[in-house]
Parts: sequence; structure tokens; C-alpha cells
Amino acid sequence: MTMSHTTYFPDARGTSPSAPLSPRVGIASFHRSLPRYRVTALYSCPAIAERLGVKTVLVKDESVRLGLPSFKMLGASWATATSIAREWLGTEDAPLSIRWIAREMRRRHGSHWRVGRRLVAATDGNHGRGVARMARLLRLPSLIFVPAGTAESRIRGIEKEGARVEVVEGTYDDAIARSAREASATTLVISDTSWEGYTETPTNVIHGYSTMFSEIDQQLSGKTLDVVVLQSGVGAFAAAGMAHWSARDTNARPRFVVVEPTAANCLMLSAESHAITLAAGPHESTMAGLNCGLPSLIAWPIISHATDAYIAIDDDATFDAMRVLADCGIVAGESGAAGLAGLLAITDVAERDSVGLRDDATVLVINTEGATDPDNYDHVVGTTDKGVIRTRRRRQQATHTVRVSGR
Ligand SMILES: Cc1ncc(COP(=O)(O)O)c(C=O)c1O
Repeated sequence: MTMSHTTYFPDARGTSPSAPLSPRVGIASFHRSLPRYRVTALYSCPAIAERLGVKTVLVKDESVRLGLPSFKMLGASWATATSIAREWLGTEDAPLSIRWIAREMRRRHGSHWRVGRRLVAATDGNHGRGVARMARLLRLPSLIFVPAGTAESRIRGIEKEGARVEVVEGTYDDAIARSAREASATTLVISDTSWEGYTETPTNVIHGYSTMFSEIDQQLSGKTLDVVVLQSGVGAFAAAGMAHWSARDTNARPRFVVVEPTAANCLMLSAESHAITLAAGPHESTMAGLNCGLPSLIAWPIISHATDAYIAIDDDATFDAMRVLADCGIVAGESGAAGLAGLLAITDVAERDSVGLRDDATVLVINTEGATDPDNYDHVVGTTDKGVIRTRRRRQQATHTVRVSGR
């Protein structure tokens, strides 16, 4: 089946700017301090490799991360921890852990340190749920703004963390603008995107994602990647992956492919016009995490320098990829399957070549979320997430390439 898609191949790529390449040390140890930290699985999927016509397809499975159904908690937690340390504790370089933060807040501000303080974020689902979880772990209130049309199940997921959820009439970008107005000395706004004058916290979101990429390096144990595909909303996730692997010399680094929904292809549009460009929408894709109209200011320089190919896809393509991953025993939601969907959509020989899909290639796909909209998941895949996992266990599918101990 041919899926509708568009592609853009930039003429040349440069070297990535160095600023976000040097994150603060201690990120991985902070993540290990959080409840339910485990190294997530890296699967090898021969059936997908055959379908893509490449040697190996590796899938990093972020459908369960720190007890939540997406990788986003990595960035949300580190950005929250560093913001509290900076804004409420006046420290930039203490070794952070969740316990240390609560203890230090009490020591500096007294046992009523929580009174009047709160966390705020805007989200299309996953980031806000991560911020709400951090608030819950620290026993702080949280207020999360979501755009109109956010699936009920995603709102309930955030509320289950104890957050108050407010629906903003408009897009994800409108929800971001709304959340920014809440900032004060006692309200920390933890945004995963950046704009003029607000870059520090979103830089730490990008840094937080580095734990996942470092885990992948360990799991690869020296094996090199030829193609890395990164599905994108505002581009923070893609920038983190590109920053991580761009540190290598140009010949050794993988090709980077960005995948976006057709109606929210702000990175592709920005690349075509060599400047940050709005994808006006309407943003009605079911790939909710990718429904963003504007790239993040700090992610864009990294992405524009490192990306080899931009692919925009329709929902049908990601539905197909959700089923392909389910057949391999991997539960991938609409945004989670989008990276693979972009690669599967490419059939033209010249385009395959430009993307790096050769028969000897090792390709990394990241399943960035599980079934965050269970009704749609059942509808698309024809079974529940639990059904997919049961079948995986029975058939012993999608074997780990490397097992790394959880702590
Ligand atoms: C599941 C999932 N995948 C990918 C992304 C894209 O991340 P970014 O907005 O940093 O590009 C998101 C963002 O919310 C997401 O929720």
C-alpha cells in the first residue's frame, strides 16, 4: 500500500552548534533517583527490517518510561528539578535527586514550603503528564493547559496525576501562550518549547532526553547506526537526538530523518524557507504529540544544521505503522509510530537512497509513546495494548538486542 507523504531534502547540512551538546552532568543519576526508573528495551525487529529493505531495524521502546506511557517524563522531570533548584533554591550545580529537592526546600523554606507554590505547563498530552507526575512526587499542586480537541483519555491521564486541567480554545501554541502568563515567583512554568526570553527550562527539557540516547549507546555496545528517524512536534526531541549523535565526526554520524504530520510540518516548512515558519493548520492529526505549529527557538538551529530529510505524513501512514509494530509485539501510539511510518512511506528509489535506506543499513526507530488514546488504539490495531503484550510474551517476539540492568 502506498501512503501519501511529502519529502524535503535540504541541499547541505552543517555542523551542529555546540551549546546544547554539553549538558550538565548528573542527569542520568537524577533519573535513577525517580521511582520506577528502568532502562527501556531496545528491540531488533527482523520483520520490519525486511519490509523496509534494510539489514537491521532497532526500536527503542518508550511506551513505558518511569511508569508513564511516553519518553516525555525524562525532559519534564529534569527541567522541573533544575528549575526548582535555580528559582527556589538558588543553586545551579548541586547533584540533584528527587529526595534532595524536597529535603532542601524544607530546610531552606520551612515545613510549609509548598504553600502558594505550584507547577504549570501546556501540553498535547505527554509532557504535561510528566510535569503533573513531578508535582505529585513533590506533593505540589499543578495546572496543565491542553488545546481544544485533546482526547478525553489524555486529559484523564493528566488528572490522574492530581493536576487541574484547563482546556484552551485553540491550538497547542495557544495553550503554550496561555501557560506562559502564569509565571511568577511561586509558579514555575515548565515548557518543552522555547521562545524569545524563555530558553533555560526548555534547554533542560532537551538535556533530560539525553538519558534515553545514552541508554541506546550502551545497548548498541559499539554497533553504529546508519539512519536515525525522529518524529517531531516542536523539535526538542529531535534536537536532543541530533545533538547527542552529531558530536561524532561527520562521516561517522548517522543520517537524521525528521517526520511530522502533513498539517503540522513546521520543521519542513522552516527548512524550505530557511527561517522559523508557522504551519498554520488546522492541526487535526491524531498524532497529538506532533501537532505543533512552530518549532522551538532553541531546537531549530540544531535541526536545521543536522537534518538530512524531512518527511510529512498523514494519519493513515501512522496507523499502518502502529499495526506493523503491534505485529512485532510493540505497543505504539499515533505519535509513537510516526517515525517508522515516515520510513515506510518512502518507496521511490532515489528517495530511499537520500534517506539512507540501503540493504546493509542499521536503522533506529524510537517508539515515543504507548497507547495514550486506548479507544483509537483498539480501533486502529484491532486489539488492546494488553493483547499485544500478551501475544508478545507468548511468541517471545521482539527480543532484546542487549539487556541492560535497570539500575
Ligand atoms: C509521543 C511523542 N512523540 C514525539 C514528540 C515530539 O517531541 P517534540 O515536541 O520535542 O518534537 C512528542 C511531543 O509531545 C510526543 O508526545
